[in-house]
Amino acid sequence: MKNILIIGATGQIGSELTMSLRGIYGNEHVVCGYIKGAEPKGELMESGPAEICDVTNPQMIAEVVKKYSIDTIYNLAALLSVVAESNPMLAWKIGIDGLWNVLEVARENGCAVFTPSSIGSFGPSTPAVQTPQDTVQRPRTIYGVSKVTTELLSDYYFNKYGVDTRAVRFPGLISYVALPGGGTTDYAVDIYYSAVKGEKFICPIAEGTYMDMMYMPDALNACVQLMEADPTKLVHRNAFNIASMSFAPEQIFAAIKEHKPNFEMEYQVDALKQSIASSWPDSLDDSCAREEWGWNPSYDLKSMTTHMLQQLEKKFQA
Ligand code: SER
Repeated sequence: MKNILIIGATGQIGSELTMSLRGIYGNEHVVCGYIKGAEPKGELMESGPAEICDVTNPQMIAEVVKKYSIDTIYNLAALLSVVAESNPMLAWKIGIDGLWNVLEVARENGCAVFTPSSIGSFGPSTPAVQTPQDTVQRPRTIYGVSKVTTELLSDYYFNKYGVDTRAVRFPGLISYVALPGGGTTDYAVDIYYSAVKGEKFICPIAEGTYMDMMYMPDALNACVQLMEADPTKLVHRNAFNIASMSFAPEQIFAAIKEHKPNFEMEYQVDALKQSIASSWPDSLDDSCAREEWGWNPSYDLKSMTTHMLQQLEKKFQA
């Protein structure tokens, strides 16, 4: 049986991944690691162990790992792309100094480590359409710089010390549970909230700007599937391209309009978000993930839209 620690467990991915892993491995085997000011609430707090675990504090990580005999760490502590631009040093401190702490604890205690990378690890000189698994990675954002470093440092610990590091490059993640907060792809979540509230959506990303996106249930499956994969089949490790859909604002708007014919959208392009979005790929080639560990997503734009709208409507009625 695995004993798992999730660092950043109250964030966008963590709050759902923690519950999902508790369902698979048992509540007592999944520790919700959080920081002061981002305490877990409700089911997340009540259904299993929770510990303060600041990624910038190596001793704190080591204590939690020893206390619960942790063998797998999901390191989800990070700032998203837009918010990171306003505090690059903090983005580095959490993303890289933090990762270094996690990897050292993992090396000393024999833990596997999952630290997500992103479409943000690519930049304007990367081939934009069907971006290959192995290609140019020269991002211009501090988010991207820290993600490329994350990939390299994770591979370094695998090659030098045998630490079992594995990761995916997440696209923009869409969910009705926790809001992302501070990313370039957030518009693709916000648009559903506007539609359900009956408000006009002000779109910060220009028409025709394609980015890869993914519905959260597929993203959670990716984490579990990759960490359960047969290591002998993994040619790559940090980090796999994964993809399920790529769209521009006018396409997600049209998909929502099929359910809500009166829904309206207006473009007010945000210069920072647009410059980041334009520097990221339009779509990723995820054939290595499909071949090496069986990646196979379930949701496309149409099925995600139906489910998102249903779930958000339930949420707002409650
Ligand atoms: N969702 C992230 C962001 O927009 C990208 O991985 O910052």
